[in-house]
Amino acid sequence: MSDLSLVQRIRQEMPATTAHVYFNTGTFGPTPNCVLQAMEKRLQEEHQQGRLGLWDATSALFDDARTRVAHLLNADKDEIALTGNTGEGMNIISYGINWQQGDEIITTNHEHHNALGPLGERPLLEAITNLVTPRTRLIVLSHVLWTTGVVLNISEVCAMGREFGIPILIDGAQSAGALSVDVKALGVDFYAIPGQKWLCGPDGTGALYVRRKAQSSVASTYVSFFSVKHEEGVEWELYENAQRFEMGGYHPAALAGQAAALQWLEKTVGYEWLFERIAALNIYAYTMLKSVPGLTMLTPKPMSGLLSFTLEGRDVKEVVMHLREKHNIYIRDIPAMKCLRVSTGFYNTEEDVDRLIEALKEC
Ligand SMILES: Cc1ncc(COP(=O)(O)O)c(C=O)c1O
Repeated sequence: MSDLSLVQRIRQEMPATTAHVYFNTGTFGPTPNCVLQAMEKRLQEEHQQGRLGLWDATSALFDDARTRVAHLLNADKDEIALTGNTGEGMNIISYGINWQQGDEIITTNHEHHNALGPLGERPLLEAITNLVTPRTRLIVLSHVLWTTGVVLNISEVCAMGREFGIPILIDGAQSAGALSVDVKALGVDFYAIPGQKWLCGPDGTGALYVRRKAQSSVASTYVSFFSVKHEEGVEWELYENAQRFEMGGYHPAALAGQAAALQWLEKTVGYEWLFERIAALNIYAYTMLKSVPGLTMLTPKPMSGLLSFTLEGRDVKEVVMHLREKHNIYIRDIPAMKCLRVSTGFYNTEEDVDRLIEALKEC
């Protein structure tokens, strides 16, 4: 099938992508029909049969979601804990470290609100290595910066961390589902992802990868029914795998939606194709945006699904509102950088980009 007809078919499956010119997957991805169907089905079953009889189906659902996330990240299933969002995964690790007075954490000033700190403009590895002290207990970085879309070379930081015995926690909010992620090749210890952004799942879904050997170095801050074994004769014992970090209370309908989205991306859309499509559209949008008078590109080169820029003399919030109200185009602003951000989704078309360019020229 040609790229064009595949994109058209995908767009038919994702009504939000034809209802608007949808350039904000970095905040919320559009959901495919199968997500709605899976959630509706699960809610109907709960409503009609009551939840008690669905225990086995629920366990199978959780297992399916863990398996699909493991496939996405090239992890093993027992290294995956389901979470409600990226922040939950980040917090599970940050709070699970046995911090002592005077211990240090290294991060950047481009992190999301769940992890902030200093970096500057120096090359990443050098900047981070120079900050390492005998008290450094954790390094926290985003794989893709939400501010500019820059992809950090986290594998070299992971190698350095391994050398010094410092674990690395990665925020994968803007990478999972936007580019190929292989946690084993990266050598990362902890990797937190959302379900509701590039993976096009419902709210309240996400996952945390915890490298098998790193699992015992983090305490389970919250313990729920889902984190402990339920075996006869076992009084109270945490699972020996990443499930020990699951807080529980997850909405099964949301999990059904997440698993359905992951299956659709994997089997119908195809990860390889969608990563290439996001990258190709990002290059096209980068080139076209540069033709807009007064536009300054903040993203140094196309690297991920995000592009950030400013428009000379224009208030970013006004531009976002103008595009939405006058042109039905959805982008967002990044208040801290007073800039605009576009996410190029695999479901977008070159025509979407052209419409954005024309609208920005009119601003
Ligand atoms: C880099 C980054 N980290 C974390 C988040 C928050 O994600 P979540 O709502 O899944 O916790 C976002 C986006 O909102 C983000 O861009």
